[in-house]
Amino acid sequence: MKKNKYLIIGGAGYIGLVLLDLLSQDYEIIVFDNFFFNKVDDLKKKYKNIKFIKGDINTDIKSKHFKNVNTVIHLAGLANDPSSDYNPNNTVLTNHISTIKIAKLAKNNKVKKFIYASSCSVYGDHGKKLINENTTERPLTVYALSKFSSEKEILKFNSKSFNVISLRFATLFGLSKRMRFDLGVNTMTKNVLQGKNIIVNGDGKQYRSFVHVKDVAKSIIFFMNYKKKLRYNVFNIGAKKNNVKIIELAKLFEKIFPKLKINKNLKNFDFRSYEVNFDRLNQLMNNKNFITLKEGITEIYDYYKSKKINFNSKIYYNLRIVKSK
Ligand SMILES: NC(=O)c1ccc[n+]([C@@H]2O[C@H](COP(=O)([O-])OP(=O)(O)OC[C@H]3O[C@@H](n4cnc5c(N)ncnc54)[C@H](O)[C@@H]3O)[C@@H](O)[C@H]2O)c1
Repeated sequence: MKKNKYLIIGGAGYIGLVLLDLLSQDYEIIVFDNFFFNKVDDLKKKYKNIKFIKGDINTDIKSKHFKNVNTVIHLAGLANDPSSDYNPNNTVLTNHISTIKIAKLAKNNKVKKFIYASSCSVYGDHGKKLINENTTERPLTVYALSKFSSEKEILKFNSKSFNVISLRFATLFGLSKRMRFDLGVNTMTKNVLQGKNIIVNGDGKQYRSFVHVKDVAKSIIFFMNYKKKLRYNVFNIGAKKNNVKIIELAKLFEKIFPKLKINKNLKNFDFRSYEVNFDRLNQLMNNKNFITLKEGITEIYDYYKSKKINFNSKIYYNLRIVKSK
């Protein structure tokens, strides 16, 4: 039987490499990426069944890349606030204009499904209110706005023959072969590994929603394989048990690492608070067994505790890589 063909744009990143590890040989995979964080030849050696194409989504992606592709998974772009603030014009081009161009190319080439990596940051600050997919979006940053405006535009392409699915990920944590130490929980774990204290901005009463990178990859695969007609196009990706106040997260660190000290930084007050509802996802796939913060933190700690790596290397920090290009 002919295998379905999947094009993963941005498939060499933090989420991408976890996704590639989970996809079995039953899938025909093409990765299109400019390999900001790794070398294409290293990945070609490691993933022999996957085709890697080096190119920039702003200039190099063409109609030919979508020929006979069944599903596109679009992960490429500037993936956090600092790297999006660095050059807002480039963020609009990369995250917004190129996303719309990619969705158009996909639709014109008869791709059937388009899975977009959106973000819960599109909701902005809603104080104590629990956020669901119907909550009014109030993006507060260049990054969040670029994700929201792109999502809004590509959802207009949704049709019977072209299913657009936008997955709004909570803030990710966890191990990946393309590690990021610029994500909250990962940064805190890195600080523990470096013998530093943990800093909580403000009083720590702000809520945040977290999701393990492996569960994000599993959710993407779930939607890749989903055969029935979906009732919705937008899904929050995460699980209730990983909605925590920042101070609770700090206390969890104290519990795992009893010698650790927590410093509150009241000057650098971070007011943003959001707690997300994941019931829509839970109706389709069981998110109750998603990896917990404790498991994810311990996994990172155990993996790196005996490794002599340079935690300051720029490859772990998106902003530093973007600045160096
Ligand atoms: N990590 C999170 O917490 C999080 C949360 C919500 C949404 N997201 C979204 O998920 C997606 C993937 O995030 P990630 O954490 O894996 O980020 P990442 O930075 O590790 O991966 C992005 C990948 O895209 C590639 N890329 C960047 N610009 C490109 C360009 N112009 N042309 C071609 N390739 C390009 C990079 O080389 C990299 O491999 C992003 O769209 C991000 O906005 C991430």
